[in-house]
Amino acid sequence: MKGIILHGGHGTRLRPLTHTGPKQLLPIANKPMSQYCLESLRDAGIKDIAIIIGGTGSNKVQEYYGNGEKFGVKISYVFQDSPRGIAHAIRLCKEFVNGEKVVVFLGDNILKKSIADYVKKFNDSNASASILLCEVDNPTQFGIADVKDGVIKKIMEKPKNPPTNLAVTGIYLLTDTIFDIIDRLKPSWRNEYEITDALQMLLEEGHKIVYNTVTDYWKDTGTPHDIIHANHVILNDMKPYFDGTKEENVTISGNIMVGAGTVIKNGSKIIGPVIIGQNCKIGPNSTIGPNISIGYDSKISGCNIENSIIMSGCDINGDFTIKDSIIAFNCEIKKSDTLSKIFLLGEGTKISL
Ligand code: TTP
Repeated sequence: MKGIILHGGHGTRLRPLTHTGPKQLLPIANKPMSQYCLESLRDAGIKDIAIIIGGTGSNKVQEYYGNGEKFGVKISYVFQDSPRGIAHAIRLCKEFVNGEKVVVFLGDNILKKSIADYVKKFNDSNASASILLCEVDNPTQFGIADVKDGVIKKIMEKPKNPPTNLAVTGIYLLTDTIFDIIDRLKPSWRNEYEITDALQMLLEEGHKIVYNTVTDYWKDTGTPHDIIHANHVILNDMKPYFDGTKEENVTISGNIMVGAGTVIKNGSKIIGPVIIGQNCKIGPNSTIGPNISIGYDSKISGCNIENSIIMSGCDINGDFTIKDSIIAFNCEIKKSDTLSKIFLLGEGTKISL
């Protein structure tokens, strides 16, 4: 069985974070979100994996994952010239799949539960595809499956009147029948080759699609809010460790992961769940948490940070509060001595003052 991770796309909803690289490399609990997909495939025994790349910063994906050896898998890269849809990306992998069964993982989907059981069941079945469904509160925003008596009747994209609240998650277990279907697929109104249309066509042509319902955590992390939410869930589940040092008068509570070389300075408070990477300086007099990821080599002093992701190499210093934010690599935020604020902002930056 083979694996495919989709690492292309526009990433418009995550601009400006996606101006410099693909969204799937954005860190959740200090690890690129697509690494969770890769590890999920690997832990289910799928070690031959193609990564679809294309667009801004594709080279960063290759630099990070290399040939996969470091991650215990073998990686091939497949280039998508422009984001023409999920089905289009899958079609590019026909040669790679070479007649085997395949698990496709959207690189921005986080699934807490292991996929090993789903993979085994699909391997033992004669179904043409198997999908994972998950109940959602806002079914008009998702691909939805109409299911009756355990049988999928129809699959539709963002229905106005959803027949169920069962969203089709971004993990698809497929046979190579899918390639013949995609070859005959027409682009949608948004000019993309849609995976929901391909699955619906499979059904219409009499192929069997089975499903499992995910009751554990699943998130499509397309927006900043989704990423911060996923960060919280992953942090809560991590095994705590403290490899750094702390000065006097520091209070620590909740689930905390602190990397080597990191110093928590006098008068600081860390409220878990919080992860802090290696070689950071936190404090003095800072309150960090709950729900915070801080990358390595960052300095934070004097401020309160809640429910946010601060990537590596940041320098944040001043008596203010930062909340519900994602701050990319190497940003500097400082209190200014004058009443006027000084900015150097990239295209599409969002600030609330
Ligand atoms: P989406 O999140 O649906 O689309 P997007 O990444 O273009 O983001 P936005 O809507 O904010 O502009 O894509 C789902 C996943 O599939 C995501 O991991 C990106 C990937 N993808 C590709 O690899 N190639 C494609 O052609 C498309 C459309 C998506």
